[in-house]
Amino acid sequence: MPRKILVTSALPYANGPLHLGHLIEAVQTDIWVRYQKMRGHDCLYVCAEDAHGTPIMIKAKAEGITPEALITRTAAEHLADYQGFLIGHDHFHSTHTPETQYFTDLLYARLRDAGYMTRRSVRQAYDEQAAMFLPDRFVRGTCPRCKAPDQYGDSCEACGATYVPADLIDPVSTVSGTRPVWRDSEHIFFALGRFEPMLREWLASGSLQPAVQAKLAEWFEAGLQDWDISRDAPYFGFEVPDSPGKYFYVWFDAPIGYLGSFKALAERRGLDIDAYLRADSSAEMYHFIGKDISYFHTLFWPAVLHGAGLRRPTAVFVHGFLTVDGQKMSKSRGSFITARHYLERLPPEPLRYYFAAKLGPGIDDIDLALEDFTARINSDIVGKLVNIASRCAGFIERGGGQLATDLPDPALYAEFSAAAERIGAAFEGRDYSTAIRDIMQLADKANQYVDQHKPWALAKDPAKADEVRAIATQGINLFRVLMTYLAPVLPAMADAAGRFLGTPLERWEDVQNPLLGSALARYEPLATRLDPKIVATLIAAPADAAPAAKAAAATTARRAAGGNVTAAAASAGGAAKAGAGAPAATPAAAAASIGIDDFARLDLRVAQVVAATAVEGSDKLLRLTLDLGGEQRNVFSGIRSAYRPEDLVGRHVVMIANLAPRKMRFGISEGMVLCASGKDDTGGLFLLSADAGVRPGMKVS
Ligand code: 2FM
Ligand code: ZN
Repeated sequence: MPRKILVTSALPYANGPLHLGHLIEAVQTDIWVRYQKMRGHDCLYVCAEDAHGTPIMIKAKAEGITPEALITRTAAEHLADYQGFLIGHDHFHSTHTPETQYFTDLLYARLRDAGYMTRRSVRQAYDEQAAMFLPDRFVRGTCPRCKAPDQYGDSCEACGATYVPADLIDPVSTVSGTRPVWRDSEHIFFALGRFEPMLREWLASGSLQPAVQAKLAEWFEAGLQDWDISRDAPYFGFEVPDSPGKYFYVWFDAPIGYLGSFKALAERRGLDIDAYLRADSSAEMYHFIGKDISYFHTLFWPAVLHGAGLRRPTAVFVHGFLTVDGQKMSKSRGSFITARHYLERLPPEPLRYYFAAKLGPGIDDIDLALEDFTARINSDIVGKLVNIASRCAGFIERGGGQLATDLPDPALYAEFSAAAERIGAAFEGRDYSTAIRDIMQLADKANQYVDQHKPWALAKDPAKADEVRAIATQGINLFRVLMTYLAPVLPAMADAAGRFLGTPLERWEDVQNPLLGSALARYEPLATRLDPKIVATLIAAPADAAPAAKAAAATTARRAAGGNVTAAAASAGGAAKAGAGAPAATPAAAAASIGIDDFARLDLRVAQVVAATAVEGSDKLLRLTLDLGGEQRNVFSGIRSAYRPEDLVGRHVVMIANLAPRKMRFGISEGMVLCASGKDDTGGLFLLSADAGVRPGMKVS
């Protein structure tokens, strides 16, 4: 019986870029949702921009645009980043929409009418010049305890003290730079404390992880305070319907944005909204969040839903923070990695895999250790998983392209397919690290099977062709099972594997039957090794770091990469000339300017490396066979010092496709690949590559 499941991840604020901290949550959620879909469940994943609040209002003002324009621009950037990481939202909405306003007004009216809203006066910092009340974070001053200067209005970063802005010595508004005054204003409060018995009962139903339960016990102990859900104008948000000049606090309508996004999706697909949201709904609802926003999701949110007569979350899934090389992400250290910064350098699936390999069901922090990341991908994905397919595919291809009609070792296959329930249970319980460990142990077994049967040795004897085909069929089938298990984590690779196998890897139960007698498509490399030099640049130049940090980070990047990264196009000449012993090319910046027509004469194309070999007699050149989308080219490239030939196979590069063929000592070179290089021989060489999704033959402009 398919389950009806509604899933969310936390809504990103519409005033800044996504970073890898956002992405670990989106990836965790996406894996879970993809797994549920593979099991045939009716699982919907929604998210949205968190569009309201003072920071967004102020940022828009500083840019001289409307908040709406800021949200639209940021939403487009966020969506592109999510898509870049293959996050498969069923719908991505915004809180600044009629759907979210509908639910915000509805929930407010129901809570008010049920007597859960009270009003009282609040004294708050007020900026007379900007004519606005100031959130605590917009007041800075000297810490009343340790006297550290320039601290936020709610806590001191130097000594950890917490206080109210009125306690600060010499407070200053960060909006206008003037000293705030203190003013009273009436606010609307949600009576959270009245929900304590309900929340205790909800807690006992097992909806939370043990560590989160322990935190809740502390909060109950401290006593549940009324929650101020209103803010005074000017404020960017929804006006409270019965209180002109008052707006709902951003954290009131943010989780309601989950429902707004779901409403928009439901209307598009003709789904029954009530069936998901009514108090006795049998549908399940899960929120994936970071531990810093547990209070909102495990206390306020279930209380708001329950008080308004709607269902509570089935569970809230909390994860820990992401650290990079053991430390909190930091702009000044250059380790604040935005999603875009990552995607400009590397494909998404290695990171999805690495996160999965590290994510468990608990709330421990997860470390992205860059050297470990490279080693793990190169060992698990390239060395183990893809290796099974790549070493077997050729035998099938050379034997006519058809799989055998029987498996030579059905017991081994049964062992692999029997793991479906065990691995599935690990995905269901968000214990992805256990699932990955299990899958990799099976991958080792599959490789051992091929090692033991040595099809390459048997293939020398034409009489053994059937045996070779049978062994390769077994290997390909083991690969298919493992790739199916990994499809929630590596969806693009699973799609490509499905095309190779001639059948999509979409359903969990399909592994119960082996693939026999059918034709395979031509094998294309499914993954390539990560280059540690490129991985090192992840913590080099964050896109939005402060200029000083950026300059420092850029220096680190150059140091890590070993050269000047500006000479991209020119170095193609350098690379080709290197074979003839000429010096590397001049940086592009120093070249005379050209017109657009000159540029248009260059036919730049994406090409895929089909084969790469060292050129005998040259210590600089590699011979590359490049696929230009049907057409193959032979190119000599002076990148031997930087790349091992076997690491290049399958990789996409950018080439100049209309360069006149050049006769070299070793043969004819039919183009050039683009490469960044340093000013001298010690500067390093870096092939230019393209983002995930490119195909050979695509035009580069
Ligand atoms: O902490 C944050 O980034 C919030 N924008 C998360 C909101 S999640 C939900 F409540 F909307
Ligand atoms: Zn202090």
